[in-house]
Amino acid sequence: MGSILVIGSYNRDTVLRLSRFPAPGETLTALGMAEFHGGKGSNQAVAAARAGGRVALLAALGNDASGQAARALWTAEGITVEGVQTVPAPTGAATILLDAAGENQIIIVPGANAALALPSGFTPPCDVTVAVAQLETPQAATAALFRTLTGARRILNVAPAAAILPELLATTDMLVLNETEAAILAQREAEPAALALALAAETMREVIVTAGAAGAFWARPDGVVIQATPPRVAVTDTTGAGDAFLGAFAAFSAAGHTPEKILGLSVTAGALACTQHGAVPSLPYRTAILALAS
Ligand code: RIB
Repeated sequence: MGSILVIGSYNRDTVLRLSRFPAPGETLTALGMAEFHGGKGSNQAVAAARAGGRVALLAALGNDASGQAARALWTAEGITVEGVQTVPAPTGAATILLDAAGENQIIIVPGANAALALPSGFTPPCDVTVAVAQLETPQAATAALFRTLTGARRILNVAPAAAILPELLATTDMLVLNETEAAILAQREAEPAALALALAAETMREVIVTAGAAGAFWARPDGVVIQATPPRVAVTDTTGAGDAFLGAFAAFSAAGHTPEKILGLSVTAGALACTQHGAVPSLPYRTAILALAS
């Protein structure tokens, strides 16, 4: 089994639990507040490790308590952290509004994440078979890393949705995004399968569009689509569901499973992540994913 290299963000998440989202100009009283580890890069690295992957992480932290807590998390999860940098900026932070249906709205303050760069002379571990990135850290750093990883499957999670730099798209093999992000990128509303096909044809890359309970749609530029539907679960908090999907996808890809099995296990991981509060506490372990998928 090859290893997984994740480049991406860490955020300290502050979650405000609400009965509903506020209207513009309205003041609401929260039902509760909690803090969790977060950030799409860190979440995906932890998810991949819990799904059985061997994971190394490239990230940037501030010299502060949140940065120390992040390092402790990754060490506890068995993630290799030689590529983690300490930079002169506060560790990233996010405020997450969570409504009674488990849906969220997220505001990020990038801080140290915005300073992430590929160290000069960086050489990736030679056995990397899957690389994963998102858009909470500079695209130039991801492009520079992906350029060194020609033998790996290089996956870009287009989250938060943004235009992709040509040099990053040129070094990316696969795009993964949720249906909202896909509609933004495609500049139109459509069914998730249609969005996946359109984006695959436009970018000439494999594209996976995730659509919550409707499952995930993996389209190739030649028009072939694979679909997987997740098991039904009681939804508590959808935060981190996409990250659980990405991490599981990386781990089960590195383990060499078939596309159908990889997609089925990944939507199961995403569903499991909706059953608990917080991003990192909800990221499922391999045994739980396999048990629910069987
Ligand atoms: O995908 C969920 C994550 O998005 C949160 O942990 C938050 O930090 C933002 O990065």
